[in-house]
Amino acid sequence: MRANAGFLFAFILLLGSCSQKTGPDIVSLDSGWKFRTGDNLSWSTPAFDDSGWSTIDPKQTWEKQGYKKYDGFGWYRFKVVIPSFLREKAYIKDSIIFRLGKIDDCDQVFLNGALIGENGMTMKANSLPSADFNKIWGKWNLDRKYVLAADDPRVQWDKENVIAVRCFDFSGPGGMFSQPFEIAMIDLKDLIQIDFSGSAFVFEGDSIIRKDIVIKNLSDKNEFKGNLIIRAIRSDNSASLYLEKTGIDLTGGLTIDKQISFNTSFNRPVSLFVSFTESESGKQICDTVEVPRILTPKAPKEPRITGSKVFGVRPWSPFLFKVSATGTAPLKYTAMDCPPGLKMDEMTGVITGVLKKKGEHQVKLKVENQYGKSERYLKIVVGDLLSLTPPLGWNSWNCWGLSVSDEKVRQSANAMKSSSLIDHGWTYINIDDGWEDTRDKDGNILTNSKFTDMKALCDYVHSLGLKIGIYSSPGRKTCGGYEGSYGFEEKDVQRYALWGIDYLKYDWCSYGDIAPNPTLEQLKHPYLVMKRALRQVNRDIHYSLCQYGMGEVWTWGADVDGNSWRTTGDIEDTWESLSTIGFSQNNCSPYSAPGRWNDADMLVVGRVGWGPSLHYTRLTPEEQYTHITLWSLLASPLLIGCDLKQLDPFTLNLLTNDEVLAVNQDPLGKQAIQVKRTNDYEIWVKDLEDGTKAVGLFNKTLKPLYVPVDLKDLSLQGKLRMRDLWTQTDLGLVSGHFEMKAFAHGARLIILGHQD
Ligand code: GAL
Repeated sequence: MRANAGFLFAFILLLGSCSQKTGPDIVSLDSGWKFRTGDNLSWSTPAFDDSGWSTIDPKQTWEKQGYKKYDGFGWYRFKVVIPSFLREKAYIKDSIIFRLGKIDDCDQVFLNGALIGENGMTMKANSLPSADFNKIWGKWNLDRKYVLAADDPRVQWDKENVIAVRCFDFSGPGGMFSQPFEIAMIDLKDLIQIDFSGSAFVFEGDSIIRKDIVIKNLSDKNEFKGNLIIRAIRSDNSASLYLEKTGIDLTGGLTIDKQISFNTSFNRPVSLFVSFTESESGKQICDTVEVPRILTPKAPKEPRITGSKVFGVRPWSPFLFKVSATGTAPLKYTAMDCPPGLKMDEMTGVITGVLKKKGEHQVKLKVENQYGKSERYLKIVVGDLLSLTPPLGWNSWNCWGLSVSDEKVRQSANAMKSSSLIDHGWTYINIDDGWEDTRDKDGNILTNSKFTDMKALCDYVHSLGLKIGIYSSPGRKTCGGYEGSYGFEEKDVQRYALWGIDYLKYDWCSYGDIAPNPTLEQLKHPYLVMKRALRQVNRDIHYSLCQYGMGEVWTWGADVDGNSWRTTGDIEDTWESLSTIGFSQNNCSPYSAPGRWNDADMLVVGRVGWGPSLHYTRLTPEEQYTHITLWSLLASPLLIGCDLKQLDPFTLNLLTNDEVLAVNQDPLGKQAIQVKRTNDYEIWVKDLEDGTKAVGLFNKTLKPLYVPVDLKDLSLQGKLRMRDLWTQTDLGLVSGHFEMKAFAHGARLIILGHQD
């Protein structure tokens, strides 16, 4: 491995060090919390005796500390002396801040019995807690920072203060988590915000990058003067691409919008660094962001057929398959030797009809435009199995959470088409939890007011050449508290078929009330019930099991007819979540097969949010390369979890690399296996149908790393052709041992194959 220390040092010098001095002392609230489940408002009072309560670490949710699967209310209490020297030593003396990590899902925070904060908002003095807890979904990811005036009577200086936190958790992990947990006087870093998140990077022509950076003074009374420095630096050769130094005067409440642009090759690593140094105190705040590298080459003008090469359908089921292709419009689609019963729409590439007999058909597809043509075989397998390659699509959950609506689903479907994702094989538009209402007198499930006509919505999605999915739970309630399918499985599936649903995500949720400590039999049971219901309707519905991997579902998901099964709990848009899930999928690998996919959960790229307000994923661009590389190697269903209407150029580029997607869609249906795991890197290898191997090299460190590859670890020998899939370039021949550079938390995806 080559040493990068010299380069790194130079890079840090060039960026300029950012001291991020916190200034005044803090009072740590890291340890010493008491906890109990349940709910009683008297637990907010300082005099309450909590000596019988358990201790708990606020940095981890309660699920991780002995309260597995506990949803509902939980209370935390902390006793702390707030010393007045905090205030005396502070640079800004007027406000005190309580930083309480994050809280999943909702909270009310009391200081000495008085309410100071609710669901992330500081509450005015004399605010009364609503007796009925204000349950707001979608706040779990919000930093809890409650700010009080230093002379607020709720604060007891130099005396013992009691902080009591009342939490409510809807489902999944619950309670306090993340960090920091501390009390401090408000500081520059709380009041000045450097914000890259308002807009995406824009890539213009062949080499211009534009970006908006917002600098905000969040205080309405304090004014801060100082120097703003903005730099863009190539992180591989330290070349300075942009440097701006300006004096700024941030009066109370001011927002400065800086638009910068610089020239560079889009595939090179660049860091953007912003600092503000306040003149009077010399305090500095700064932030840095990785400029996304654009690696996927533009699709050529000539047609190129993309997407799945094999399609499974049951006899007599309505057939719907859209041939996907890139190239300048208009494209003309032809299917040669199409079996009787099917017809191809020349303009859209959509094949419809019915096949009545089991069997296999090789259909030669041709797509033409004014620049040329592309031909490829599509294998149609009429039999028992669906989804012979992993589903590619979109799901509403990671963006909209329970705020999903008909309008948002339509917008996503439209964007799937207009963004060109559809041309790369992306097919499903899946509605997650939040569409259900009660049942009518005959037991038919009703849609809530956000979905006025589900049949019309399904027809609309189909009219675009896309497919549509829905969500339910085998329990009485879904995870979001909506009507589940328990006892109504057949009725529900009949409805789905009537509407034209193509995909069902079936999520365990409240089935735990029916089987609290499920045996393997009980884990399987509700999924078998639904299997039977699904097999009774004349419609192919992809059956997606969601029960977070319980009972090693990958070993029996096929027995209950699952086409895919979630192997883990819910993903979040953090490296911790992504890497923990992604790199722990080796056990499931042997069970992956065409029509039977291990599902590592939905993608967390683009603008996500799990509720009405969205943010750009907190994954760095390189982490997103790791995400798509790894999920492709894992042959996991790829369900985009962001708002498609707001797709930025980088995310679109990331999701439209046909060679990368082809690894996911490979007809052999093998999942990659982990052949090398060290603290610093991993190597995963996936066998492909044509005898070559797709190899993922993953850098788990925070520095660029040359990942060493020994071909014998990959069970390969001799001279091999190597191709880089992200850049779609041939890298020549390799043998024996070689190294490949991957950036911090980044990945390389290559194909290795013998010379023809
Ligand atoms: C979770 C599931 C998520 C989402 C959510 C809806 O259990 O894992 O993916 O479907 O329920 O309430």
